[in-house]
Amino acid sequence: MSEMNLDLSAVLFDENTIRNRILDIGAQLSIEYKDKTPILICILKGASLFLCDLIRSMTIPLEIDFMSISSYGSGTKSTGVVQIRKDIDTDIHGRHVIIVEDIVDSGLSLNYIMDYLKNHNPASIKTCVLLNKPKAHKIDVQIDYVGFDVGNEFAVGYGLDYAEKYRNLPFIGILKEEVYS
Ligand code: PRP
Repeated sequence: MSEMNLDLSAVLFDENTIRNRILDIGAQLSIEYKDKTPILICILKGASLFLCDLIRSMTIPLEIDFMSISSYGSGTKSTGVVQIRKDIDTDIHGRHVIIVEDIVDSGLSLNYIMDYLKNHNPASIKTCVLLNKPKAHKIDVQIDYVGFDVGNEFAVGYGLDYAEKYRNLPFIGILKEEVYS
């Protein structure tokens, strides 16, 4: 057992559950994007593990790109201030784009990214998020494919961090309140 497990109050989604859900989403995307060669844009850093497993569950030609934004620093609350730290390298004009995110909390980050990428005139743009926190949304945000809906618990692991830690846990757990309060 990892020493990180001591900071968790529970396992939210184990490795098997995550794998099976991603296989389902990958199969669905493979059907819906057949002959479209979509570009999957991974929002760093949290979605990196999700992207790696998602594309390996897809059976159609596709491309990947990466974007990095920041709105949180090392705290736990969204400031609503979004900065682009790394832009995409691909020309997405006329292409089919799928934004890959690890979690939608307030929705501010994904909303910003959607607006930003829409300005590049893609043929279509959809979002694929591993975890969605519907109760935390502060705005209407377009979520097309979702792994799991969750409550307001603090989820870490499988790419998700607290103060940059816990990303390497192969499952998703709930962080004990005493760790971040
Ligand atoms: C997380 C997550 C989303 C955003 C969701 O990123 O990856 O991008 O917060 O929150 P919101 O819906 O309230 O905007 P974070 O800034 O923690 O960066 P990271 O992916 O590098 O951990």
